[in-house]
Amino acid sequence: MSGTGTGGAANAAVRRKIMGFIVSQAIHAVCELGVPDRLADGPAAVPELAAGTGADAGALHRFLRVLAAEGLFTEDPAGTFALTAEGRLLCAAEPGSLRHFAELMSGEAYVAWSRAAHSLRTGEAAFAAVYGSPFFDWLAEHPEEAARFDRAQAGLVEMRLLPLLERDWDGAGTVVDVGGGNGVLMSALLAARPDLKGIVFDLPHVVDGARRTLAEAGLAGRTRCAGGDFFAGVPAGGRVYVLAQILHDWADGEAVAILRRCHEAMPPDGALLLLEQVVPEDGEPHPAKLLDLHMLVLLGGRERTAAQWRDLLARGGFEQVSATEGPRSTLIEARPLPGVTPAS
Ligand SMILES: C[S@@+](CC[C@H](N)C(=O)[O-])C[C@H]1O[C@@H](n2cnc3c(N)ncnc32)[C@H](O)[C@@H]1O
Repeated sequence: MSGTGTGGAANAAVRRKIMGFIVSQAIHAVCELGVPDRLADGPAAVPELAAGTGADAGALHRFLRVLAAEGLFTEDPAGTFALTAEGRLLCAAEPGSLRHFAELMSGEAYVAWSRAAHSLRTGEAAFAAVYGSPFFDWLAEHPEEAARFDRAQAGLVEMRLLPLLERDWDGAGTVVDVGGGNGVLMSALLAARPDLKGIVFDLPHVVDGARRTLAEAGLAGRTRCAGGDFFAGVPAGGRVYVLAQILHDWADGEAVAILRRCHEAMPPDGALLLLEQVVPEDGEPHPAKLLDLHMLVLLGGRERTAAQWRDLLARGGFEQVSATEGPRSTLIEARPLPGVTPAS
């Protein structure tokens, strides 16, 4: 019988899955000390690398041994380490860097995962059970962690943007980025399209960051930043409303409420753009299926299938017009349906 003995392949495979967090957190640890960034300048021996990053040399060698076996680094016989093509993606300056994503999967998010069974039992966020308040409320009380979260989101925008930039923006006028974080998406969009104006809307403590980003990009004259709560209402005055990685943070009831607030604010010929993951309806592994669980554990939210997105949009008063797949998320475009009542 295969896989029943303690030395069996099945046993080893399951042990490897159980210990998966060790690889994930080891990646985060070497990123935190800037090890991949140091190696971006060229291969280095462990003592030199340890001295340059503030690591303990013995521990660094053991971390790198594990991550080299995962294909992120190479070690030559003289003990010199170098980045592989995969490892390069952990460097902060690399296009499409996953450095910030590693950061997002650590810290309080990782602590929340230690109570994932709470989410399994209740269908609700383990984060709130561990930390005593929902994630975004908690961030509002923890400026350092909030700044790190905004930085990490901004770092992910680059790849997210691609299908958005390729869209036809002629005549779009003013774009409202609802939950626009620290304004990086708006800044890139307006830099690419000098004919557009923008409004970035987010929680008051977050839009301060957007104001800085847009001013530094020389875009203050074409933008406005507004602080508020998207469950209470979103700014009017736009023709195109963007929700980038917003609805996946929320369960259906709240997601529908956000859509309704956008519907109320936008003109009848306006457009709604979602940048979200689409969960494939097959039995194959897919990053969106893992992120779906992460949304549940952290926020009580969810990733959705193509049919679930269409259904959610309809409940929010919209009809899906198109879906364009990008490298990290799908651009779903919708138009407001007439005759939608402002309820909920
Ligand atoms: C996952 S982040 C996405 C940020 C940005 N759109 C992006 O693509 O990187 C979710 C954003 O929703 C904002 N948010 C959460 N609750 C909110 C609320 N009640 N009203 C307005 N914004 C809110 C957060 O501050 C955060 O910037």
